[in-house]
Amino acid sequence: MSGSPKPVKKVPIHLQSAQNRVYIKNGQVVNHDRTFKADVYIEDGIIKFVGPASDITVPGGVRTIDASGKLILPGGIDPHTHFQLKFGGQVSVDDFYKGTRAAVAGGTTTIIDFVLPNKGESLLDAYDTWRSWADGKVCCDYAFHVGLTWWSKSVSNEMKTLCEEHGINSFKMFMAYKGLYQLNDTEMLEALERIKELNGVAMVHAENGDIIARNVNKLLKAGVTGPEGHELSRQEEVEAEAVNRACVLAHQADCPLYVVHVMSKSAGVEVARARQRYRGRGGIFGETLAAALGTYDGHNHCCWHDAAMHILSPPLRPDPTTPEGIMRLLANDDLQTTGSDNCTFNCSQKESGLNDFSKIPNGVNGVEDRMSIVWEKGVHAGLLDPCRFVAITSTNAAKIFNLYPQKGRIAAGSDADVLIWDPNQTRKISKETHHHACDFNIFEGMVCHGVPEMVLVRGRVCVENGQVRVAEGFGRFLETPVNPPFVYDALNGKTNGEEEEVAVNGNMKKLNINEQLEI
Ligand code: URP
Ligand code: ZN
Ligand code: ZN
Ligand code: ZN
Repeated sequence: MSGSPKPVKKVPIHLQSAQNRVYIKNGQVVNHDRTFKADVYIEDGIIKFVGPASDITVPGGVRTIDASGKLILPGGIDPHTHFQLKFGGQVSVDDFYKGTRAAVAGGTTTIIDFVLPNKGESLLDAYDTWRSWADGKVCCDYAFHVGLTWWSKSVSNEMKTLCEEHGINSFKMFMAYKGLYQLNDTEMLEALERIKELNGVAMVHAENGDIIARNVNKLLKAGVTGPEGHELSRQEEVEAEAVNRACVLAHQADCPLYVVHVMSKSAGVEVARARQRYRGRGGIFGETLAAALGTYDGHNHCCWHDAAMHILSPPLRPDPTTPEGIMRLLANDDLQTTGSDNCTFNCSQKESGLNDFSKIPNGVNGVEDRMSIVWEKGVHAGLLDPCRFVAITSTNAAKIFNLYPQKGRIAAGSDADVLIWDPNQTRKISKETHHHACDFNIFEGMVCHGVPEMVLVRGRVCVENGQVRVAEGFGRFLETPVNPPFVYDALNGKTNGEEEEVAVNGNMKKLNINEQLEI
């Protein structure tokens, strides 16, 4: 799984860490399946050794870091970002430099962004454009999903080229954004069949776009033009219906499906039900967002801007039990990953919807704070153990998108994307101190336990002593090969009837993959 060739951009030597050899001693390694005391030795960006100090002779010229009392975690993988995305006539302000810098500051060392072609645009052209925006700017490794924003024979043909020649294995379809990106059910079925043929992973934005379009018109006609109209036009059942339909369509096409940004308890339960119904524990996967876990929409906004800055799709829910409810779904392996959907706009950009909520550009921050939010609301709250934290912030995304074990694991041979994580330290989130380009933070004032004291990106120390020192262009494009075993083994019946060991909130459970679990 090597990055595809690209023009080599030399990182100026003064921006590089002095050491290409790092020895981390006395830490507690946490992987998704077990945690143990071990030393970790890194050379040239790769983990070379994980084990007891007695088993290694450390060469000279090594930087030694004492991690006593700290955890050593695989760097976070954010499977859902939108850097410099054109949306609603505006371009999101975190570009591939600022966005990946914010990611690294918060302990995320790999991001997966979306190539979203315009309607009628060649997918390959759009891919080239996105690569030209990202390469040379990214501070950490990255990959792409590609959006099926329209459907035709040429789109279907180009999907094959993307898989075979450009390191793409995942395609996102939209059931919402009518008139822009939305596909109908027939188009979705054709796309799902094509993805299955290519051994790829289907992704879906699940909201019923037809219902939303009608509700928006009704609300505007009734004089509801403010930001409160956004959630009113697309309430929980509008999301849950689409999740269920997407799972049925995927099942009809026998295609694995990853439901992005699950924002409500009802939608999460639909993912869980489909996982039980169709594949035991394989075939269908669900992602939620830092936003859904860290906050909700209590409608106690101080002003129009405050409300508009919280708008994304699907929306934050008014139900205050949502964050904990979704965290419990993650704990039970009903949902598998956490992303950020980082798509940040400044207050002035959101004003394009001053007189019409449907014109407010959609998106919030999250790439920097996701790891701390999940730790605070999950581990610190007693709902997750550290192994499950690693699974849902890193390993599961690596497995689903076929980056594992290069990413998502502390093990010899893996990339040295490593966090020295202090579970006892706290930090207060604020737009005054965050590394985003935007002038708002939806988690403003939150105090989180769990701080990435040091962040290593392929062995390069990028965060220490509260300082963030990234190198623009240091990141590489990661090819994501088709046919991820984690996704396709179960579908192909390779594990059918066999017992699989699954970590469910830290307890290894033997599950028959066809076993029906009770929700
Ligand atoms: O509000 C959101 N989620 N903006 C980004 C586009 C998308 O649907 O993911
Ligand atoms: Zn979406
Ligand atoms: Zn204001
Ligand atoms: Zn998104």
